[in-house]
Amino acid sequence: MAIAPADEVDRLLDIFAQPDRHMLDLGCGAGFTLCRLAPHVATIWGFDQDADLLATAWQRVASLGIANATLLLGNVAVPTDVAVLPDVTFDLVFSRRGPNVNATVMTKLKLQAYVIQELVQDSLGLLTSGAIRRVRPALA
Ligand SMILES: C[S@@+](CC[C@H](N)C(=O)[O-])C[C@H]1O[C@@H](n2cnc3c(N)ncnc32)[C@H](O)[C@@H]1O
Repeated sequence: MAIAPADEVDRLLDIFAQPDRHMLDLGCGAGFTLCRLAPHVATIWGFDQDADLLATAWQRVASLGIANATLLLGNVAVPTDVAVLPDVTFDLVFSRRGPNVNATVMTKLKLQAYVIQELVQDSLGLLTSGAIRRVRPALA
């Protein structure tokens, strides 16, 4: 039986969430996925353009006693917003039905970082696929 794309993304996130990893959640929304992964990674950063959702995410983080999360407000499509994120820091960036990873976000990733992108649903609510790729090959 085929695994649903959303479940596959969760499976991949669980594999890549390691204690030494710094993860970036693009379009973290109310922080459901971020809070689920936080106990398994070194740090996790959430980035979202919706101030109300981000406030909810902060409440969720605080209520769960999560101390390794940072949440920032901004639009991924606006380079000056993305500039608040530290450069060359993240081992993995993921987006669960959020904004696509773009060139500005790529400058925030380490040399051998991974990208996990859950594609946006279509008008029928059907998710087409999930995708994963490695950013750059290791230097020789
Ligand atoms: C389906 S929700 C994400 C749910 C969340 N990733 C989770 O796993 O619980 C999509 C989120 O992407 C955010 N978003 C969409 N476009 C964005 C953009 N250009 N920049 C920042 N956030 C964006 C929305 O505000 C929304 O919170």
